[in-house]
Amino acid sequence: MVLALFGGSPIRTRPFPSWPVFGKTEEDRLLSTLRSGEWGRLDGKQVEEFERRFAAMHGCGYGVAVVNGTVSLRIALLAAGIQAEDEVIVPPYTFLSTASAVVEANAVPVFADIDLVTFNLDPRSVEAAITPRTRAIIPVHFAGQPAEMDALQRLAEAHDLTLIEDAAHAHGASYCSRAVGSLGHMASFSFQSSKNLTAGEGGIIVTNDQALAAACRSIQNCGRVEGGIWYEHHVISGNYRLGEFQGAVLNGQLDRLEQQTATRDANGAHLARRLQSLPGLFPQRRPPECTRHAYHLFMVRLDPAAFGASRDGVISALEAEGIPCSAGYGFSLTAQPLFRTKAFGPYLPGLRDRLDYSQASCPNSDLICTQSIWLEHPLLLGTADDMDEIAAAFEKIYCHRDELAGR
Ligand SMILES: Cc1ncc(COP(=O)(O)O)c(C=O)c1O
Repeated sequence: MVLALFGGSPIRTRPFPSWPVFGKTEEDRLLSTLRSGEWGRLDGKQVEEFERRFAAMHGCGYGVAVVNGTVSLRIALLAAGIQAEDEVIVPPYTFLSTASAVVEANAVPVFADIDLVTFNLDPRSVEAAITPRTRAIIPVHFAGQPAEMDALQRLAEAHDLTLIEDAAHAHGASYCSRAVGSLGHMASFSFQSSKNLTAGEGGIIVTNDQALAAACRSIQNCGRVEGGIWYEHHVISGNYRLGEFQGAVLNGQLDRLEQQTATRDANGAHLARRLQSLPGLFPQRRPPECTRHAYHLFMVRLDPAAFGASRDGVISALEAEGIPCSAGYGFSLTAQPLFRTKAFGPYLPGLRDRLDYSQASCPNSDLICTQSIWLEHPLLLGTADDMDEIAAAFEKIYCHRDELAGR
């Protein structure tokens, strides 16, 4: 057998499932929304229905849908009463929004490192980062695997901190059989087009706390309050309401979520079992507390010395074998130009000279940025045979690893 990269036959010749998945359910809801003429959140019933169903599915009594999963994080912070220059602990291995939403709440993101095997926020690193100014922690359920919530809840309680789950990757996941979204004071989800539940764009905050829900609703809706008169505005905010067409699509997508999550979970677990015996290849380790993984990403860490080939060489070889994949983030958030230059616009003017993110130490995150391989969730929507082909591609590349020298 010759590697496909060097002219051999690829392991995988059929395409993987495409994304998004949609059909008559979404079409019917969209058409009836169109014909109703009720296109806005304030007129129609689609978003309201979605908020109720999504929150309940995630163990929560309240849901506030918003325009995306960045705004939802910022609104959750503002609802929690975060004040100028308060500190909020976030991981450095995540999409920008987890940290930029903190800056947009005029607060200071403080980076704690992630764990080398779970790729999630390390509670020991969080504890070390707590100062008298700390007000909140935002763990990300990275790739769809719940963070170590028991330990983080203990820290939050002991230090009186607000715990906001960034569940942008984790629709339908569970931790100790409790739904992600109900594990902190509030949780934020994204419905951007790559996510496991999507309407192209969108987001939601869910919570079980009535006062926090009312604060989020007010900030989402121009500072109005329940029972107040229409042109009466109580807090600084804007219009972050989601539209009814997106609500219609999300209701349709929600009908599919349970089945899709079960499929991804079973396929991801199968693939992880197949890959863990290869030297130098470390699939995200799944602790027993993770009772359901959403597998927004199937992520592995590749130690080049132990595997015998470079991460980038393996990615090129996988692509050639018909397995779409990527390296993920090129560097930790601490190395983002935004945090190095502190181009924070009007935010945190008094602190910029004192903040120095080049001094933040996140060695696990930095290492993982150089060793990660991401496979996106649509690959896991097929069959166990698909997983066997992905595993076969890794195995073939391992057998031919010497040929990747210099790549
Ligand atoms: C972990 C995480 N948090 C927040 C977001 C922001 O979501 P949105 O793109 O809907 O603003 C994303 C989006 O990629 C994400 O991956």
